[in-house]
Amino acid sequence: MPRPQVTVVGAGNVGASVAQRVAEASLADVVLVDIVEGLPQGKALDLAEAAPIVGHDMRISGTNEYADTAGSDIIVVTSGLARQPGMSRDDLMSKNAGIVRSVVQQAAAQSPGAILIMVTNPLDAMCHVALEASGYSPERVIGMAGVLDSARFRTFIAEELGVSVASTHAFVLGGHGDSMVPLPRYSTAGGVPITELLETERIAALVDRTRNGGAEIVALLKTGSAFYAPAASVTQMVDSILNDRKQVLPCAAFLQGDYGVDGLFVGVPVKLGRRGIEEIVEIELTDDERRAFDESAGAVRELVETLARMSAGA
Ligand SMILES: NC(=O)c1ccc[n+]([C@@H]2O[C@H](COP(=O)([O-])OP(=O)(O)OC[C@H]3O[C@@H](n4cnc5c(N)ncnc54)[C@H](O)[C@@H]3O)[C@@H](O)[C@H]2O)c1
Repeated sequence: MPRPQVTVVGAGNVGASVAQRVAEASLADVVLVDIVEGLPQGKALDLAEAAPIVGHDMRISGTNEYADTAGSDIIVVTSGLARQPGMSRDDLMSKNAGIVRSVVQQAAAQSPGAILIMVTNPLDAMCHVALEASGYSPERVIGMAGVLDSARFRTFIAEELGVSVASTHAFVLGGHGDSMVPLPRYSTAGGVPITELLETERIAALVDRTRNGGAEIVALLKTGSAFYAPAASVTQMVDSILNDRKQVLPCAAFLQGDYGVDGLFVGVPVKLGRRGIEEIVEIELTDDERRAFDESAGAVRELVETLARMSAGA
């Protein structure tokens, strides 16, 4: 049986790190694609030359041609501009929408049966562009944000309590970024909700830091944004899909009545398996959580409407 193949569009920080993690975990052969000539080829060769030391047999290639990506099982889209200090996710939207539309059309045409994992920001809006441009069914278009946001929340919970990150679990809903909705009562250390372990103000501080997790790193790096944890997050999704693990992970999914939302990508817990999103897991929300979730969904709707207006006016 041929090995699975993952195409990674965008050989920048996130894309190259995804390629490295996917190959080094022996999950799949990887094809790196970028618009810049030589960049994906050079990074792919460098990664391939690490294989004898790391000890894997995955094939890693780089290309500027979508024909070389044909028959992929998963397409990860990271191409676009990264956020610079002082630049909001919205500023990026119009430029990245054009890039995402073009790369998704080309990649999906070569791999009509693939599953798309979107990474490019603004994430929730780019998922809409990708759904339209790919012509895929909604369960095969998935946005990566919640896995990263909950990993950040877990990191801060573990640090605060002085416990292993492995003992923590975090639950995050809603859109990516400022409007995300962390759920402390479902976030645990050793199975105990953090609401029983930490003062309300401390929890609020951790939630706030999680919400601004991307911006915190942008401010430190000054040129570019986070990529190690984002790449690890994508790789967990790739693993769950290719190995049909059916992990329940927070991802941006196209809601069609779920959580009372219709026709919008919003972050919710989903079961990820070989068919993509195999189930949207719906949980009861308290009034406060429902309000925050609705606000978050409203922020995504605004982005999508702005995008539609920009496209119509273009
Ligand atoms: N969803 C998330 O949680 C999350 C997390 C981190 C980064 N991101 C986003 O991921 C994207 C990539 O981030 P990065 O740090 O890797 O940026 P980067 O600048 O390092 O890499 C982007 C790559 O895309 C390539 N590219 C641009 N236009 C292209 C096109 N038309 N076709 C093919 N390739 C093209 C560039 O040449 C570059 O190599 C950004 O939009 C960033 O905001 C999202």
